[in-house]
Amino acid sequence: MKTFKRIGVLTSGGDAPGMNAAVRAVTRLAIAKGVEVMGIYNGYQGLIDGEIKPLHARDVSYIINRGGTMLYTARSAEFRTAEGVAKAADVCRQNGIDGIVAIGGDGTFRGAVDLTDAGIPCIGIPGTIDNDIGCTHYSIGFDTAANTAIEAIDKLSDTMQSHERTSVVEVMGRHAGHLAVYVGLSVGATAILLPEKPFDFDRDVAEHIREGKYRGKHHHLIIVAEGVGDTLGISRRIEEELGLDTRVTIIGHVQRGGSPTARDRVMASRMGHFAIERFLAGEQNCIVCYRDSKLVSTPIEEALEMKKELDGYMYRVAQDISI
Ligand code: F6P
Repeated sequence: MKTFKRIGVLTSGGDAPGMNAAVRAVTRLAIAKGVEVMGIYNGYQGLIDGEIKPLHARDVSYIINRGGTMLYTARSAEFRTAEGVAKAADVCRQNGIDGIVAIGGDGTFRGAVDLTDAGIPCIGIPGTIDNDIGCTHYSIGFDTAANTAIEAIDKLSDTMQSHERTSVVEVMGRHAGHLAVYVGLSVGATAILLPEKPFDFDRDVAEHIREGKYRGKHHHLIIVAEGVGDTLGISRRIEEELGLDTRVTIIGHVQRGGSPTARDRVMASRMGHFAIERFLAGEQNCIVCYRDSKLVSTPIEEALEMKKELDGYMYRVAQDISI
């Protein structure tokens, strides 16, 4: 079994609240087990460029409560080339880094496969507010992002209700509607539009609004996942075809920031701890996954094949009680 003297930790792709808590857990447990930890700044690009500094136990103090990532993050085009990967592996060897903990989403894990193939074992921790990683029911950052969106929409609803206006609210989610469904159910949306479900304006928006009006609703709230791609157009059609005074709100990157919720702090700490335990026990090229209320590790290649289905039941609940 491989023994580790020094490992690196990096965050890559879009940041997510709770990544810091994961970095802290990784660093603290590795040090407690006698393994040195190097912080790699700016994701895989920083690795290629040698942006590496030792992390001691006190270097990760007071970050469990902070959003963003103290290690910074990047999406690296160079790392997607064979030369970039070879360079990154060389930098690891020059710095005595025996293995890497990579925190991020699918792109991060594809990078981890390449690095493992180049001789540097890796383990992945899921961190993305989209919660769209197939192998895990939970990804760090989702709960905080959802709560941020809910808080914003609750405030918005106060003013929209007072004016009897209709709100079209865009939440994040490039290819996935997990955040939109969860937020939509939590705020009592009239309709939820998702990239996974091609929508028909009359059936999925107009009909819901008409039904709501018939039952006495004065304020309608339409949640649109970013990946649907036509938030302004949907709002325009509501004004023109239904004659309702409508406002658009795009919550945007606010959802990616802020102090992580208790759930994200706890999940990130558990995942970071689990990653080091599995890594030091000899597992590599795998991802820490949360399934059926417990942490398990899944080989990365297998994990990348897994597709995350939308929670159809949650969507149905939101629809059924939106009248
Ligand atoms: O992957 C997380 C995410 O926030 C998506 O929901 C969003 O589409 C994307 O990142 C935005 O990326 P960027 O920060 O590069 O604009």
